[in-house]
Amino acid sequence: MDPQYGKIDLRRLRQNSHVRQMIREVNFNHHQFIQPYFIVDGLPEKEPITGLTGVYRETPDSLLRQVENDLEIGCNKMLLFGVTHKQTSSDQSSLLGQHHSNDGKELKTDLNYEFILKQIESLRSHFGDQLWIAADVCLCTYTDHGHCGFISNDGKRIKNQQTVDELSRQALLLAQAGANCVAPSDMMDGRIGSIREILDENELEDTLIMSYSAKFHSGFYGPFRIAANSAPSTTNTLKDRATYQIDPSAYKDALNCAKRDSDQGADILMVKPGLPYLDILFRLQKEITKPWAVYQVSGEYAAIELLGQNNLINSPKAHMEAWTSFFRAGASIVISYGAREARKWINML
Ligand code: PBG
Repeated sequence: MDPQYGKIDLRRLRQNSHVRQMIREVNFNHHQFIQPYFIVDGLPEKEPITGLTGVYRETPDSLLRQVENDLEIGCNKMLLFGVTHKQTSSDQSSLLGQHHSNDGKELKTDLNYEFILKQIESLRSHFGDQLWIAADVCLCTYTDHGHCGFISNDGKRIKNQQTVDELSRQALLLAQAGANCVAPSDMMDGRIGSIREILDENELEDTLIMSYSAKFHSGFYGPFRIAANSAPSTTNTLKDRATYQIDPSAYKDALNCAKRDSDQGADILMVKPGLPYLDILFRLQKEITKPWAVYQVSGEYAAIELLGQNNLINSPKAHMEAWTSFFRAGASIVISYGAREARKWINML
């Protein structure tokens, strides 16, 4: 039959919300969201973060209050970033010699993890198993140069193996303190296998690894780096993270990383950022049948918020649209600064 232009045919299915809801092709719920939190050592009171509405640099007390409120509204999965006092470079180089062996027994480390470990223990003792805790694993909030790994004395290279050894120790300590999941965001080679091994050796077989497998060298991380005090210092020889994060053009590199991390034991894989990398997510989730998370990163979240604050868009609607695209592209999990709003916004549909 010839198309009858002018006669309603396909629009009949869009005429009211009953019909539209019945034929929705992508449905998701708030259980699929993870809320990031920043816990900061030595902060007198909690501080807002420009662009990340409703997210704060928290003190230990304010974090407990925030989590209590979040649990009440059904937001019960956290990705926790600890922000501590920076270690000096001389501390770091003295460290390098001490941690070559990785037998899983030597738990002492000179990087200052006491603060974050205490917070995880406190969250666990306050909230028990009601709260699911994923803890960030990286060095950039601990190193004074702001890189995600240790750097060589000439400042030109990231020392991969020493960094992986340290990340593995860090992951073990975080898991022992009570994290359900460790989430390495550093992008060093080989860290997933090494972390899996050290966890298993220490009877932490149940601790999940969520790997930032397809993490790109993105310009969208700005608000996070302010919140976490983790920008690479401008006086470094290595100016940016281009030697460890993936080039925005390189799908094959992302695929290789994801395959490697999956083979080494990652339970959940991630694409980060979200919107500029939807094609990557779509392709990767077809290749690797493990759950995929997508991180709607600080810059993409803030872009929508700042447009909303200027009355140029309705930001909850825009976030819902972005989230829908993540699930449509094949994500199972969304990490978003607006996770605690997900239940309310989904119900507005
Ligand atoms: C650091 C880290 C970054 C983010 C998460 N972990 C920043 C970076 O790699 O520079 C970014 C998250 C965001 O922008 O929301 N390893």
